[in-house]
Amino acid sequence: MTTTIGTRVTVRDFGYRHASRKKPAFQGINMTIEPGERILLTGDSGSGKSTLLAALAGVLGDDTEGETYGSLLIDAAAVGLVLQDPDSQVIASRIGDDVAFGCENLKVPREQIWPRVERALDMVGLTLPLDHPTRHLSGGQKQRLALAGVIAMGANLILLDEPTANLDPLGQREVVEAVDRVVAETGATLIVVEHRHQLWSGTVDRILRLDNQGVQEITAGELTRVADLPSRRDPAAASVMSAENLLTRWGPARSFEIPEAASTVITGANGSGKTTLALTIGGLIPPKDGQLHLSDSLRQGVSRQPHQWRSADLARRIGTVFQDPEHQFVARTVRDEIEVGPKIMSGKRKGTVDPVSASRIEELLDRLRLRHLEHANPFTLSGGEKRRLSVATALVAAPKLLILDEPTFGQDPVTFRELVWMLRELTDAGTTIVSVTHDPDFIAALGDHHLEVSAR
Ligand SMILES: Nc1ncnc2c1ncn2[C@@H]1O[C@H](COP(=O)(O)OP(=O)(O)OP(=O)(O)O)[C@@H](O)[C@H]1O
Ligand SMILES: [Mg+2]
Repeated sequence: MTTTIGTRVTVRDFGYRHASRKKPAFQGINMTIEPGERILLTGDSGSGKSTLLAALAGVLGDDTEGETYGSLLIDAAAVGLVLQDPDSQVIASRIGDDVAFGCENLKVPREQIWPRVERALDMVGLTLPLDHPTRHLSGGQKQRLALAGVIAMGANLILLDEPTANLDPLGQREVVEAVDRVVAETGATLIVVEHRHQLWSGTVDRILRLDNQGVQEITAGELTRVADLPSRRDPAAASVMSAENLLTRWGPARSFEIPEAASTVITGANGSGKTTLALTIGGLIPPKDGQLHLSDSLRQGVSRQPHQWRSADLARRIGTVFQDPEHQFVARTVRDEIEVGPKIMSGKRKGTVDPVSASRIEELLDRLRLRHLEHANPFTLSGGEKRRLSVATALVAAPKLLILDEPTFGQDPVTFRELVWMLRELTDAGTTIVSVTHDPDFIAALGDHHLEVSAR
C-alpha cells in the first residue's frame, strides 16, 4: 500500500433536509478540515451527526430522499465510512474477502489487492488467517474489520460513526489503538462521531459540536458532562427471580438472584452471552437446562416458566428492550408504536388506550425527548432516537420486571441522565430492573446488584 494523503474538507452554508421532515437534519454548517486533521464530532442525539457523515461520504441518496443546501468540497478520491452497527457492514463470510471487497469495487488491480488486505488487517491488529469466518468475530473485531476495509481502499478521509458504542472496555481500547495506528501510518483525515470523548482525547486535534445553528469548535472543557446522577444502593433481601443452574446457549450453568424493586446490572466481555441470558430471563427464549424460580409478585397467578407463558401474560409481567431497537418496531409512527402495547392489552375495548396508559404516553414522549418526532416513521429515527423509542414502548406497559439490553448506548449526556433517573424512579416505585451494560456511569448509578458473566 502506498502512503495516502489526507483530504481537505470545505463546507459552506451546508444543510440537508430529509424529504419526510419539515425541519432540516442540520443547517448552516461552515467548516474547513485540513488534510490529515483528526476531528471529534459531537452533538446531541438527533442533531444530524450521522446524516452529516453520510453527506461527506456521498451516500445521502438522490433528490427524492431529501434536499441539500450550500456547498461541500472534498478533494479526495476515496472516502471510507464505518457505520455504527458493526454487524450491518460485514459483507463476506471470510475476513480476507470482506476487506478485499472495497478494493474490488474501486477496481484496484488484482495483484495489489491481497498485499493491501494483509497490510490493512495487520494495521488494525487483526492477526487472523484470511479465511477466518467473519461470523466468529466479536463486536470490536468487526469494527476493526470494517476499518481494515476502509484502509485497504486507500481512503484519505475516514469517517467513523460511534465506532465503540456497543463494545466492552477492551474492545473499545482495541478500536481506538487501531485508529491511532491507521491515522499515524496513512496520514488520512479522520472524523469520528462519539459521545464518550475521553476515549479519543489522545487521538483528536479538535472537537466540533453540531447543533441546530451549525458547527462550532469547542474545547474538551466545554463538552457536556454527565452530572448529577443517582448512586447505587443496597438492594432489599427479597428476590423476584432466582436462577438455579440456568444453562443458556452460551456459557456455563449459572445460579443467581434478581433482587426485587432494585436495579441489577449484567456486565461481561463481548461474546460472553449477556444478551442470551437477558432474553432467557425475559422469557423470550427457553433455557437449555435449569430452573427459574419466580416470586408470587412476579407470577401474579401464572404457573410454569416465563418462556411458556402466553404473550399477553408475559407482556404484563416482563418487558424487554432489545439490543437492536429496529427489531421491535411494528408501527408507522412513533406515537402508534408506543400505543401498540396498551391497545393490545386494553381487554374488552380493544384498540383503545386506557387513561392511565394515555397519560403515561404523554409523559414518556416528553421525558424521552420524542415529542417532536411523534409523527415520524420509527425506521427513520437516528440511532439514539430509536433507542429511546424502544425504552418508551417497554415502559408504557409498566411491567413488574423490566429487562434492558444496553439501554443508554448512543445517548448524549442530557438524555443519559434523564434515562438513568427514570429507571431509578421505577425501582423506587417497585419495578425490578435488569440491564445489560458496559457503561461505568450507569453501573455507578444503577448497579444495586451486579452480575458479571463470563463465557466459561
Ligand atoms: N432516513 C431518514 N428519514 C427521515 N428523517 C431522518 C432519516 N434519518 C435521520 N433522520 C432525522 O434526521 C435528524 C438527524 O438524524 P441523525 O441520525 O443524523 O442524528 P445523529 O446526530 O446521528 O443522532 P444520534 O446521536 O442519535 O445517532 C433526526 O431528527 C432524525 O430523526
Ligand atoms: Mg447517529
